[in-house]
Amino acid sequence: MSCPHQNNFRELESSIHTDFKEEMSYGDYLNLEEILNAQHPLSKEHDEMLFIIIHQASELWLKLAGHELAAAMRFIENEQFGPAFKVISRVKQIFIQLTQSWNILSTLTPVDYLKFRDALGKSSGFQSFGYRSIEFMLGNKNKSLIEVHNSNSQAYDTLTNLSNAPSLYDIVIKIMAKRGFDIEPRLLDRDFNQPYERHDSVLNAWVEVYNHADTHFELYELAEKLMDIEDSFQNWRFKHMYTVQRIIGNKVGTGGSSGVEFLKKALDISFFPELLELRTKL
Ligand code: HEM
Repeated sequence: MSCPHQNNFRELESSIHTDFKEEMSYGDYLNLEEILNAQHPLSKEHDEMLFIIIHQASELWLKLAGHELAAAMRFIENEQFGPAFKVISRVKQIFIQLTQSWNILSTLTPVDYLKFRDALGKSSGFQSFGYRSIEFMLGNKNKSLIEVHNSNSQAYDTLTNLSNAPSLYDIVIKIMAKRGFDIEPRLLDRDFNQPYERHDSVLNAWVEVYNHADTHFELYELAEKLMDIEDSFQNWRFKHMYTVQRIIGNKVGTGGSSGVEFLKKALDISFFPELLELRTKL
């Protein structure tokens, strides 16, 4: 019997397209020329390439997560729960993927990083438009965070609009009121620039949903999908904070913050506070 690995060679099938002088190729469609030539290390250090690519890849995933979240918000507003659940599941998987990427970055030792850290100047993920858009969509509003984008009017305006608009949770609360839950009216017409503050009327509504899941199954499932988002997002925040601690200890950040201490504070921020609180209530 002949061994399948004997030749270790795959013949090109005659039907395979090889001439792309006049046709759109894979690289053309994906703009790979631009993307794969967008890495410009500022030092001669080997590890700076990892540092650049992990940030660029993360930014692409954040862009997709924002795109999916915006769709989820539109679907929920129109009470199209099936399509909303589909895109929310995708957002969760994107965050799992992003969290996994910290394991690659953890192969960068403190000594490796210090060799090129000075080249970064004041630049920091703190200035990530993609990340901040997602935080705003999820309801972690803080207008002063927009200021770091004052040199880019498009980013500045988009973040301002997202800050003014209802978050995903504001939309969900509106749907609950529409479905007859006794929601405090001023929550429905509040200044959306302000962070959402938990309210008993929302807590009681969720307790009702969880205690009578059969009657309110769509909202029950939605609540668990929201928990999936928060869970996967918090995992990202935690792994970022821990990886930063592993690489720079308690040094200040290039963006000017206290570093790990500042990042730790974000771990206490919940996008859907009553959904956590109801677990104690049940
Ligand atoms: C060696 C690797 C990294 C270090 C040492 C680091 C360090 C820090 C520090 C200290 C901050 C706080 C702000 C500041 O003062 O700079 C920060 C914020 C941030 N970083 Fe990183 N980071 C690293 C990698 C990454 C990567 C790969 C991403 C992916 C996009 C990222 C995204 C962010 C974001 C979004 C924030 C803002 C977080 C918030 O507002 O709570 N970081 N980083």
